[in-house]
Amino acid sequence: MNYSHFVVLRQERIEQQMRAWQNQQKQIADTEQFIERFRYKATKAVQVQSRMKQLAKIERIEVDEVDTSRLSLRFPPAPRSGDFPLILEDVGKAYGSHQVFDGCTFTIRRGEKVAFVGKNGEGKSTLVKCIMDEIPYTGTLKVGHNVKIGYFAQNQAQLLDGDISVFDTIDRVAVGDIRLKIRDILGAFMFGGEASDKKVKVLSGGEKTRLAMIRLLLEPVNLLILDEPTTGLHTADVHQLVEVLQRFVDKGNTVVIIEHNMDMIKSADWVIDIGPEGGDAGGTVVAEGTPETIADSENSYTGRFLKEKLSGINKKKS
Ligand SMILES: Nc1ncnc2c1ncn2[C@@H]1O[C@H](COP(=O)(O)OP(=O)(O)OP(=O)(O)O)[C@@H](O)[C@H]1O
Ligand SMILES: [Mg+2]
Repeated sequence: MNYSHFVVLRQERIEQQMRAWQNQQKQIADTEQFIERFRYKATKAVQVQSRMKQLAKIERIEVDEVDTSRLSLRFPPAPRSGDFPLILEDVGKAYGSHQVFDGCTFTIRRGEKVAFVGKNGEGKSTLVKCIMDEIPYTGTLKVGHNVKIGYFAQNQAQLLDGDISVFDTIDRVAVGDIRLKIRDILGAFMFGGEASDKKVKVLSGGEKTRLAMIRLLLEPVNLLILDEPTTGLHTADVHQLVEVLQRFVDKGNTVVIIEHNMDMIKSADWVIDIGPEGGDAGGTVVAEGTPETIADSENSYTGRFLKEKLSGINKKKS
């Protein structure tokens, strides 16, 4: 499907929605008028009651946003997951005699944005590979009921097919109504106009990361596990991603994100710091809490950077 065809399709769809919306608005107004007029009239009580019920039951028609200047990404509907998408008990991983981490015990609740933090090599990516069941581990790791995971690996951007275009990369995964909005979505993520016809292999590192992220967000998942998705992203893109993820959790989904970026970490509800301090061999969870708590924790290496970030914000506010 070419672009002009797409524009026409979208235009028709919006016009159709507008007509349906106008009809519904009229119907709502009529019903409200009826209720208003007869609400104190005993002889009409039953009718008024039934109209009120009718009104409450109406499924309100929504018209697609036409404005592409702000991000209008709608997540594809995913089933609701159980209340505890991830429960880890005493999870450990060793490569030969190298105990990467051990004794990782924590629970991730539905609707939370959780950040895994820690210095390079402390085992964050390895822990995620255990969660994804890509490598063997010790301890128990329970993935909750109905959990649909979308995984962004640390090298995700490199896994894209270089020989197809930006548009085709998204076109191949998008399903349903979203197919009509691919150009809008790409535009909102700064692949507007001719940029969407570029071959993936010519994209910059940051552009590839953005593209891989868009692709992931179009899958019907309820738990996103993102291993350093901000690598190579400009500050503005990081902020956009923070917003997108916030809307994702606001819908009752869950995010686990591995990050070194303080803006991203600051936006998390819960931070789990994996470090060497607490364990006798390898790493373990050395601190856990809200960004504020972590900033005050003596065990957390990340804490002090978080403290600077948080106090910087406070200074700006006062
Ligand atoms: N396949 C493997 N064989 C042996 N050692 C490995 C293997 N994969 C990872 N490791 C080691 O495990 C440790 C943890 O690596 P991991 O990639 O999980 O770190 P990380 O916390 O994600 O670091 P970063 O912040 O740099 O991404 C490192 O010391 C690494 O060298
Ligand atoms: Mg890593």
